Amino acid sequence: MADDAYIRESILSPAAKVVNGYKPVMPSFQGQLSEEQIVNLVAYIRSLGHSLDNAKGKQQEEGKK
Ligand code: HEM
Repeated sequence: MADDAYIRESILSPAAKVVNGYKPVMPSFQGQLSEEQIVNLVAYIRSLGHSLDNAKGKQQEEGKK
């Protein structure tokens, strides 16, 4: 799962690294979030990490069948 710096960049400058298969439609939240809000969002997204990793693994396994 992504580290703090990557998640922060993905919120403030989403166009810098776009996930494969997605168009760069995500708006930048630069200037709209306080430092505290950014820290809280990063912590929340990190807390989702394990289930996302599992979902990805499952998709890859199903693709092999
Ligand atoms: C506070 C609000 C939001 C947060 C915290 C957020 C956070 C993120 C993060 C962390 C990623 C990277 C995911 C990864 O690498 O696995 C991402 C990607 C993405 N987001 Fe958001 N997002 C927000 C709002 C939005 C909005 C409003 C849109 C569209 C209207 C959007 C569209 C997308 C899309 C299409 C991607 C995948 C392509 C890319 O990497 O840019 N997001 N977002």
